[in-house]
Amino acid sequence: VDLKPYNTFHFAYKARYLVEVCDIDHLVQVLTWADANQLNTHVFGGGSNLLICSDLSGLVVINRMLGIQVLHESDLSAVVRFSGGEVWHHCVEWAVKQNYSGIENLALIPGTAGAAPVQNIGAYGVEIVDTLKAVKVIDRFSLEIKDISAEECGFGYRESHFKGDWSGRYIILSIDLELSKSASPKLSYGGLGKVLSNSASLRDVFEHVCEIRQSKLPDPNVVGNAGSYFKNPLIDDQQHSSLKETYPELVSFKVGERWKVAAGWLNEHAGWKGIRSGGVGVYDKQALVLVNYTDDNAEGLLFLEQNIKNSIYSLFGITLEREPVLIGTNISA
Ligand code: EPU
Repeated sequence: VDLKPYNTFHFAYKARYLVEVCDIDHLVQVLTWADANQLNTHVFGGGSNLLICSDLSGLVVINRMLGIQVLHESDLSAVVRFSGGEVWHHCVEWAVKQNYSGIENLALIPGTAGAAPVQNIGAYGVEIVDTLKAVKVIDRFSLEIKDISAEECGFGYRESHFKGDWSGRYIILSIDLELSKSASPKLSYGGLGKVLSNSASLRDVFEHVCEIRQSKLPDPNVVGNAGSYFKNPLIDDQQHSSLKETYPELVSFKVGERWKVAAGWLNEHAGWKGIRSGGVGVYDKQALVLVNYTDDNAEGLLFLEQNIKNSIYSLFGITLEREPVLIGTNISA
């Protein structure tokens, strides 16, 4: 099966088997069959944070389980269960329509609700961990269904146990978010507070975030990409001070004792913005995003990644880390 329509880089690798599942019974059936046939299983949501780098010899499961359900409601908040296959942006639109706040800053992030906790999606000063209460999962091996509280998931910046220690162990069936009925808008990030006031409505924030994203991030339906390709690196105070002396205009934010540096700024100042290398390149409006114009495989992208990493290390002494999840086997990855 051609995986091109199932990953937003649009790489044309193949999977031996692929199945779209709409409910838990079907999923259990499919996993039981995969086990009986000793097949590796990969679960995809929107395929928007994946870097597939080889053909896959096993089974790809596409989570298409749908449903949005209010579990509890009080005067102050509502706990809502979003099924894993729901498109994330639809969940945000739904919440804004109900006037439930907490995820409006996360508008237009590609992918599904089930994938959202894996890398703890975040944008404009908000991360999914801020509203997440629990995750319902199925254990890939015992097929047991259980609820895991947000505290147990090891969330960090673009990190969780689902991406780390638990990789391949659980499939996310649904997520429970506690959304507020009265919160004021979160405008702390960058330009938001300059354009919007504290009296801005949920819908104002939602629409403004959509506008910013559309102006600087490429639409994966038009040009292949997986959003930010690198994490924003953390450096210590000493390294930060010495970089600031050389580059006073360096963009960075204090996080605890350390500094988070804008990797897009590093890439731009190393001359990568808008560069094209074969069929791939660096987006011209946001140097943190690598794009695939015409390639069917990941070789050119991995080569570009290595070149960028080398140049950022030699210029700034900073090691960049890839953000999308690597799937497959490829020695250059
Ligand atoms: N910058 C540059 N040049 C560039 C890109 C950025 O100088 O080419 C500077 C900007 O001027 C700005 C700073 O870097 O001062 C930060 O830029 P931006 O607000 O665009 O955010 P980011 O740090 O590049 C992160 C997330 C995005 C998220 C935005 C907004 C990561 C890895 N990326 O990007 O998330 O949308 O903040 O909150 O943390 C994603 O994960 O796929 C993603 C798009």
